Amino acid sequence: MRPAPTLERFLTMTTNDPTTQTLTQLDLSTPADVSQLFAEVRQRFDEQSVVHTSDPESWRTFVVKWTGRKSGILSQITDNWLKPAAPELKRAVGQELNQLKTHIETVLAERQKVIERSAEEAAVARERIDLSLPGIERAIGTRHLIRQTYEELLRIFAAIGFSVVEGPEIETPYYNFEALNIPEHHPARDNMDTFYIEGARRPHLLRTHTSPMQIRTMEKQLPPVRIIVPGKVYRRDNPDATHGYMFHQIEGLAVDTDITFCDFKGTVEYFAREFLGPKTKTRLRPSYFPFTEPSAEVDASCHVCGGSGCRVCKQSGWIELFGAGMVNPAVYGFVKYDPEKLSGFAFGMGVDRLAMMKYGVTEVPLLFQNDVRFLKQFP
Ligand code: PHE
Repeated sequence: MRPAPTLERFLTMTTNDPTTQTLTQLDLSTPADVSQLFAEVRQRFDEQSVVHTSDPESWRTFVVKWTGRKSGILSQITDNWLKPAAPELKRAVGQELNQLKTHIETVLAERQKVIERSAEEAAVARERIDLSLPGIERAIGTRHLIRQTYEELLRIFAAIGFSVVEGPEIETPYYNFEALNIPEHHPARDNMDTFYIEGARRPHLLRTHTSPMQIRTMEKQLPPVRIIVPGKVYRRDNPDATHGYMFHQIEGLAVDTDITFCDFKGTVEYFAREFLGPKTKTRLRPSYFPFTEPSAEVDASCHVCGGSGCRVCKQSGWIELFGAGMVNPAVYGFVKYDPEKLSGFAFGMGVDRLAMMKYGVTEVPLLFQNDVRFLKQFP
């Protein structure tokens, strides 16, 4: 024996489904029968409407099953019970059907509201921000050693009245060489061999030093000039432990009517003590740059051994800091400054060198490999 069909199956099985048959086929002939039949349908609806509210998908199916235009149960009843009803039953069927319809529509509308409200509540609950939860901690990086050193250098010079200017990394030979008193074929260009840029209408190159900004600044502004210029510079070096094809410089320039070699020396000493410690001594060694005269290499007493000699200073007690000198009067000619009335000094520091020396970094590549184990050592 087959199990009795469930209500659900009973209503969906076309063969046994009473709504696919006429009242005559169902053998119903009195208004009381009709009432009874409609009462059963209504009961089924009520039972099912409770079951199907949990998920929106089955709810939609349920709604269509009852109110769908083509083969919804209400349409079936209209087509199979009402339309072909015997004249004496038609009124009763019509009334019952209307009541059923009203009932179904009311219940569906109510449930619809409930479903929507609970979906909304669920969404609100899902999206609520719990302010009492601990935040997500983002790992904040540290400033790169080069950046830290720049900031230190800028602070030291800002304190004595220098202001910061920046300039282009792609330069013309005029600013990089000629106006700095380095004519073509001058041997001083040899160690500044650099990258030339092809295809430009006028020749361009990657600047080999920040000194071009001396010229650009003096062209634009009258003395007094007191600037520092941080920036990247490029040279065609073969990369090794102490060289890269790019490094960082900071240029300094002070020009006024009364600047002497004493000001130059005092500034250098002030810088060395600020950067390496108050006990630091300095010395100037004669050197050569076409744009300074006289020129000097500035050395500082070794910050590690204090001057007695160690591995860092290669037993000499001294460490080379940077190149500098009094501005060569020939340079003033290029910027229409009066060499009779003006004087000044300039310097150019290698920031990478200074950083490595001060913080004991031995390999240039470490600065650019971005290995966090290295970077973390300079919080
Ligand atoms: N521009 C020089 C260099 O890069 C450094 C320097 C700057 C020397 C200013 C003297 C004055 O080697």
